[in-house]
Amino acid sequence: MSRERRPEDFQIEAGIVGQSRALLRAVEKLPAIARSDAGVLICGESGTGKELVARAIHYLSERAPFAFMAVNCGSLPDGLLESEFFGHERGAFTGAHARRDGLIAQANRGTLFLDEVDSLTMKAQVNLLRVLQDKKFRCLGSTAERESNVRFIAASNRAMRPLVQSGGFREDLYYRLCVFTVFLPPLRERKNDILPLAEHFLRKHAPTKGIAMKLSPVVQSALESYEWPGNIRELENTIIRGIYLNHNGTIELEDIGLTLPDSAKDKVRVPQSFKAAKQEAVEAFEREYLGRLMLEHRGNVSHAARAAGKDRRDLGRLLKKYQLDTEVAEVRASAIHWNESDATNTQNRAIAMPFIDGEYIEP
Ligand SMILES: Nc1ncnc2c1ncn2[C@@H]1O[C@H](COP(=O)(O)OP(=O)(O)OP(=O)(O)O)[C@@H](O)[C@H]1O
Ligand SMILES: [Mg+2]
Repeated sequence: MSRERRPEDFQIEAGIVGQSRALLRAVEKLPAIARSDAGVLICGESGTGKELVARAIHYLSERAPFAFMAVNCGSLPDGLLESEFFGHERGAFTGAHARRDGLIAQANRGTLFLDEVDSLTMKAQVNLLRVLQDKKFRCLGSTAERESNVRFIAASNRAMRPLVQSGGFREDLYYRLCVFTVFLPPLRERKNDILPLAEHFLRKHAPTKGIAMKLSPVVQSALESYEWPGNIRELENTIIRGIYLNHNGTIELEDIGLTLPDSAKDKVRVPQSFKAAKQEAVEAFEREYLGRLMLEHRGNVSHAARAAGKDRRDLGRLLKKYQLDTEVAEVRASAIHWNESDATNTQNRAIAMPFIDGEYIEP
């Protein structure tokens, strides 16, 4: 019996990397959206993965065996866009030497992705509305109506509602396109996706399979603190640059042309050798321990050594190493001062004196 599909399986199949709440919120509804034929509007800044998500919806749907066609609505003037969408008959216009199907016909039973839908001219909006409403269209140069069963997925870099409110986009078309909406958050709002994405691109673009490339710790920190105005596309390009410009399999800052902001410098932990790190930790402990020990015993080395279970001379050596001998002297002096009222308390003096005489200080 085959294993049940888990929700994250489709995310892996679609190559959508990321586990941040913000991304999962957007991605978890894709299988449900894929079961419908209604319009989808995907919003997000440039490079946030709008086309990737549109393709995922298509490949999750029953339309997967048919075409996924994409058109950038902002890239073509009205006349060309019409011919691109609806196709043309031979001789429909100067230069139309042969009949040609448009995207609407080619995407029959499949999906048509309208990228930068906010740039559609009013004329194009009217023509498209007809296809969305009753699946009918006309080729340029033909009076015959044709049918096409297309699922529309639109994408926009800017918020569509204000555009509709200002009259820049037809309300009826908008409501047909945004039955489902998917918002893809910018990368700077899902920082914990940055390193998994970087690793994904390292694997995806590695020139030789099996040769692992690494990101230096400084680079990891820089990637996490950078704001990524170009979002995931910019990150992908940065990693590609690093893959080809690094010298020894580890990508460094200079390979990717990023700098580390001051705010991130503290976070970078340049790894030192185990020996050096251990010595640092031991010294910090010894300094702290001895300080408290000598305070507790008011500078009395013999008492302190006994309490600490250490040889008195060894303790003296340590105190000198951390320059605690002078501090201890002060502690002792205050202890003597404290006892001054008791001039007869020679025992206190006797205990402290050898310390002042420095007998614990070994050459
Ligand atoms: N979550 C993700 N996991 C893996 N790759 C991603 C992810 N999101 C985006 N990408 C990759 O980043 C690049 C840019 O994504 P895409 O083209 O889908 O962005 P876009 O939002 O359509 O950008 P634009 O607005 O500029 O057209 C693509 O190579 C895509 O595969
Ligand atoms: Mg795109």
